Amino acid sequence: MEQLPRPVPIVVTDMQGNVHEIEGADGWRAMEAIRDNGLPIKAECGGACACATCHVYVDPDWLSRLPARSEEEEERLGDAFEVEENSRLSCQILLTPELEGLKLTLAPGSEP
Ligand code: FES
Repeated sequence: MEQLPRPVPIVVTDMQGNVHEIEGADGWRAMEAIRDNGLPIKAECGGACACATCHVYVDPDWLSRLPARSEEEEERLGDAFEVEENSRLSCQILLTPELEGLKLTLAPGSEP
């Protein structure tokens, strides 16, 4: 029998400041968890690191627990608005069980 991926719940704050506890899964991109839970995220390119419309801010406590930005992500973030040190493209954050409880905030430019 096929095993379902392990759930990885994460916490996402929308641009109105509302906090949502949503379900992701091991191996999903954070962007997919946000989108599939019905939160407003443009994610125009569908996760190809080509649009920067999946821009999120990572809670400072979580920042060091994520792998560093790739060169490609770095470059694409150049197209995003109001980029901060904790800016990431949520399609480039791969959820793993270690990231259970990860806190993200939807950032300017991600609204559909
Ligand atoms: S969805 Fe386009 S860069 Fe993330």
